[in-house]
Amino acid sequence: MEIKDRVFIVTGASSGIGLSTAIALSDRGGNVALLARSTDALKELAQKLPGSLPLTVDVTQFDRVREAIGAVHQHYGRIDGLVNNAGRSYAAAVEEIEPALFDEIFHLNVLGPIVAMQAVIPVMRAQGGGSIVNINSGTAFMMVPQYSVYSSSKRALLGFSLTARAELEKDRIIVSEVYPFVTATNFGKTRMGNPAKGGPSVPYADGDKPEFVAGIVVQAIEEGQAQYFANDRLRKMAGAGA
Ligand SMILES: NC(=O)c1ccc[n+]([C@@H]2O[C@H](COP(=O)([O-])OP(=O)(O)OC[C@H]3O[C@@H](n4cnc5c(N)ncnc54)[C@H](OP(=O)(O)O)[C@@H]3O)[C@@H](O)[C@H]2O)c1
Repeated sequence: MEIKDRVFIVTGASSGIGLSTAIALSDRGGNVALLARSTDALKELAQKLPGSLPLTVDVTQFDRVREAIGAVHQHYGRIDGLVNNAGRSYAAAVEEIEPALFDEIFHLNVLGPIVAMQAVIPVMRAQGGGSIVNINSGTAFMMVPQYSVYSSSKRALLGFSLTARAELEKDRIIVSEVYPFVTATNFGKTRMGNPAKGGPSVPYADGDKPEFVAGIVVQAIEEGQAQYFANDRLRKMAGAGA
């Protein structure tokens, strides 16, 4: 899909990969609705991106997600792309998993993206098509001690994305997934769980730049293949060939 003059929604646009994606889409002439909880950060970003629309949204509040997507449709008169990017991780050994935090992670990383998809699908279908990109994670293909909840949430997202892709193909709504590897964002700082108990330390500061991942998201929107990986190692782990 072409990006110029099209309307995109990016969740988690206040930081990291989402912020870089919003800038990349705007740089290519797209209009971007910026969704996240941090109102000030969104307003600051919106001042730099012509035609953008900042909306304070907690993705785990499903009515608010639906309301915000309705507001985006009303504001621009169309919705061409959705980037489901907002997400957090949670470090806890299996025997220590707190059901409430499990719930929060699955609401944010799985159900929130599904609710957002449900809200844009009728709009895109009526327009004759659209692009949905779900930001997944290389951990969906890994066994990382302490990260069972996070990696399971991304495996669930993988399943929903591939099925949605098959279901929506007939409506020319293309569902793609992007799998970042370790990326230098705030992701390590916002991790839930007991920081003292840790989990394997992840060198976020030395990871890929969020601009690099944003470039892959742009590629996914433009080309519309099913899965995009940050590196060949992930591609091989996913069984998608070299
Ligand atoms: N960084 C990595 O190494 C890495 C690797 C693989 C996959 N990923 C995936 O990449 C995506 C983006 O993460 P990032 O690395 O860019 O991390 P980040 O810098 O921490 O950004 C996360 C974004 O999600 C938003 N967010 C968190 N909770 C939210 C909620 N309840 N409602 C709405 N927005 C919420 C945050 O905004 P507010 O706090 O303002 O709400 C922020 O904009 C995530 O889905 C993550 O799983 C990251």
